[in-house]
Amino acid sequence: MSISSGRSDIIHHLPPDHLERSLRSDVLAGLSTSPKTLPPKWFYDKLGSELFERITGLPEYYPTRAEREVLELFAGEMAAACPAETLIELGSGSSRKTPLLLDALGQAGHLRRYVAVDVSDSALLEARNELAPQFPGLNLDAVAADFETQLHVLPREGRRMVAFLGGTIGNFEPTARARFLSGVRELLEGDGGSLLLGTDLVKSPAVLVPAYADADGVTADFNRNVLRVLNTQLGGDFDVMAFEHVAVWMPQEEWIEMRLRASRPMLVRLPGVGLEVSFHEGEELRTEISAKFRLEGVVNELESAGFSVAGQWTDRQGRFAMTLAQAS
Ligand code: SAH
Ligand code: AVI
Repeated sequence: MSISSGRSDIIHHLPPDHLERSLRSDVLAGLSTSPKTLPPKWFYDKLGSELFERITGLPEYYPTRAEREVLELFAGEMAAACPAETLIELGSGSSRKTPLLLDALGQAGHLRRYVAVDVSDSALLEARNELAPQFPGLNLDAVAADFETQLHVLPREGRRMVAFLGGTIGNFEPTARARFLSGVRELLEGDGGSLLLGTDLVKSPAVLVPAYADADGVTADFNRNVLRVLNTQLGGDFDVMAFEHVAVWMPQEEWIEMRLRASRPMLVRLPGVGLEVSFHEGEELRTEISAKFRLEGVVNELESAGFSVAGQWTDRQGRFAMTLAQAS
């Protein structure tokens, strides 16, 4: 296991050519097919992480506040049910809600280490700088790794809780989601490990759609940021503002789709991948799905991955759920 502890540095597990190699293969695969798609992890450069933080404070974007409320109400129960020595948080971002969990696990008596895992260096650094003075006795590791492909680099010793907050599980395609949950269960085998999973719940599109199409256009800016990342990393010439932000509720799939719609015909050059991509007027590029869940559906998916559910909680309005599941 290659994680060393240290307060000052990010522990890098992303291969040095991660950006070029992995971004290039995602772009080649996603922009050469129809309909065009890009995976959401490429939103999160420094600007993308900052824009996501702004989204979490928008009046329309309830999930962050709702999940915080669940933790305020029930983190004590969660920690008592699964008192971990190590908290590993996947896609930790700013770690703003994490202190609620760290406090509760600390009170439950055994917490020694917090491992934040994210693809965004800037988010990891900021989070560590915020948390270090608040939790002086805690071993803090900031790990740059991809939670889809690199769960094997994470700590395997001691009693661990994996937290996957924010509803980020909803950003996986269903098959990738099942694979991911099985991977987490495998990571947690032995030592009574647990998964704490945050999931946004199905509700009226009148609430859901504005959460992904806010009045100030912050989500639109976040959505378009993926094109900026392609311009910067692959020498692309996307006219970013020529793409309109689209957020649609898909009732069959029960997910929100974020798309970018070409407002005119365009030929975009991406020299970094040797690609020229044409868009016809009105053509849509899918940039994210954000699946919404039902309580029993979350339980079924966790059980299918080999977990047993220890508890499930929601905010007072029933908008967002947190489910605690044991790996063995
Ligand atoms: N958990 C936080 C942040 C959610 S935003 C919250 O609840 O507010 C999603 C986070 O996941 C971002 O910080 C992003 O950088 C990270 N992320 C997205 N795809 C990732 C991947 N494949 N591997 C690791 N981190 C990823
Ligand atoms: C990170 N993830 C859970 C967010 C979501 O709600 O699906 C990303 C996001 N996309 C648009 N707004 C927020």
